Amino acid sequence: MSEYSETDRSSTFSGTDTDYSSFSESDEVNENDINETKRKYDFWDFKKIPFRGSLKNYKLGKQIAKGKFGDIKLATFIKTSKVYVMKRLVKSKLISKTGMALQAKNEVELQYQLRKSPDIVQIVDFFTDVDAIYIVLEYCSGGNLFDKRELRPNHTFSDRQAAIYVYQIVRALAYCHERGVIHRDLKLENVLISVGGSLKLADFGWATQLKSLKDRRKTICGTLDYFSPEMLNSETYQFTTDIWSLGVLAYELLVGDVPFPGASKEEIYGKISEYDYTIPSTVSRKARDFIESCLQYPENRPSIGQLLKHPWLHFLK
Ligand SMILES: Nc1ncnc2c1ncn2[C@@H]1O[C@H](COP(=O)(O)OP(=O)(O)O)[C@@H](O)[C@H]1O
Ligand SMILES: [Mg+2]
Repeated sequence: MSEYSETDRSSTFSGTDTDYSSFSESDEVNENDINETKRKYDFWDFKKIPFRGSLKNYKLGKQIAKGKFGDIKLATFIKTSKVYVMKRLVKSKLISKTGMALQAKNEVELQYQLRKSPDIVQIVDFFTDVDAIYIVLEYCSGGNLFDKRELRPNHTFSDRQAAIYVYQIVRALAYCHERGVIHRDLKLENVLISVGGSLKLADFGWATQLKSLKDRRKTICGTLDYFSPEMLNSETYQFTTDIWSLGVLAYELLVGDVPFPGASKEEIYGKISEYDYTIPSTVSRKARDFIESCLQYPENRPSIGQLLKHPWLHFLK
């Protein structure tokens, strides 16, 4: 692990997403944008989501994680006895932080929009009450990939296993990018393992959908170790930021540590901004090529479609 403490793997978000399609140097997220956003949206209006569930239909079980905005518990659908995961987002916690209520709405809507991909955790129900919004998800009983890697010798996977995992994550990201969705918080903790052992991309809490190819974002969000240089340097960005995080994730699976470790935030920021990392010689030539192609200048990074064809992910052929 990085020398930096565990808690720094939690994600952060600053500002409110603004449409930067006509971005100029002087554009900044300001109070007017935020007020405009507040006028345009009713945060708790989820008309686009057809589910009309209710908390009464579920029997709550044990807590499986402490989410950023409320607990995450097992929940049995009483009628069928089927077990799901219920993610609770407490409204007061969401509105206490600028932009978060809108992000929560985004999370639900995108999770719904992406529900048909087998590589993405499926939303199965949704409802709200006065205190919270509730997202019911398929239960991935294998837990998350970070915890799984922690149990491995040296916290690493074999080249072959890592390639099998990364291929599934690339497929999930391709599904998102094809629909204009940038995940923005890709990390081991947000990749879950289903009952059958296949991977599912989760946590669309920081995700955003571009309205056109010209549309860009500037918000800094996600998790320190995975921040792309363009995000850190407050430049506008698109899908390339997810490709960077994918490179960090592949590195973590193979090396057992982050590529940009540091004892302080500043040290980590410095290394990321300077693209200062080394890949140990134990990493295979193809995997090294994959990581290096992700961890380079944004304009030189491959698209997710190109990565789907990368030789490292096609070792069987
Ligand atoms: N559908 C699920 N199945 C199994 N575990 C889950 C599921 N959803 C979340 N978790 C667990 O809860 C953790 C946090 O969930 P996540 O959606 O990432 O919440 P947060 O937005 O608070 O980060 C995950 O890392 C995972 O361990
Ligand atoms: Mg998460």
